[in-house]
Amino acid sequence: MNGTTGTRDFAPVLAQVKPEAERLIAQYPDSRSALLPILHAFQNVEGWVSPEAMTAAGAMLGLPVSVVESTASFYTLFFRRPVGKYVLQVCRNLSCQLNGAEKIMTHIRERLNIGHLETTHDGLFSYEEVECLAACDRAPCMQVNLDFVYDLTRENVDALLREIMAGTYETPPLRQTAKPAANWHVEQDWAQKSPGAREVSSPNDPGGMGDVSGLRMIERLADGPVVLSGRPTEERLIVEGAARLKHTGSANEH
Ligand code: FES
Repeated sequence: MNGTTGTRDFAPVLAQVKPEAERLIAQYPDSRSALLPILHAFQNVEGWVSPEAMTAAGAMLGLPVSVVESTASFYTLFFRRPVGKYVLQVCRNLSCQLNGAEKIMTHIRERLNIGHLETTHDGLFSYEEVECLAACDRAPCMQVNLDFVYDLTRENVDALLREIMAGTYETPPLRQTAKPAANWHVEQDWAQKSPGAREVSSPNDPGGMGDVSGLRMIERLADGPVVLSGRPTEERLIVEGAARLKHTGSANEH
């Protein structure tokens, strides 16, 4: 591989990542285990995982590019297009919705004047609404670049945005090697989906519940405490869901 692909010379990026990639590959008995850290290494240099980076990672590991692409597309923390210096990924799934994510998402969209999968004109913020971030016990939550931010309120979101704009926020900005587009559309291959998943959950859909099954769960919780016969639970949202929804509509409402 000479590092020249498409319309740009990829060689400087490749030269920067290669020593780290070789070190990573040597760490694993099966070299393909190094795929995720190698993609992170490319993202650390370019600020995103470019098509050239995926081709290079595949060549290093002896993997088809299709395998690299399908792996990268599975993880929301691999940015497959140029993004802003700070990527805000707000969870739109069940626990976060029950704890007020809808208001948080509306608040951020209004503050930044951008929508889902969009970037501010100055390239400072990209904004995305994502599925469960596996931090449901601290809902509502989001990720700012690679760092989690928990227990979101409109107030702590405002403080965070102020700090980022002032350049004092503790999480460092992503590297910028290409100007991000103002908006982005995720290509969907609906034919590849099972019948039950078709037209249900699209990453292009802004806000709201991630899928209809989540909506059904909220409706069940709103109807009253859910009794799971033979499987008692202390789970807060199961036991208190109806009261919390009826009382405030959001645990974080101010
Ligand atoms: S539902 Fe938001 S982190 Fe799980």
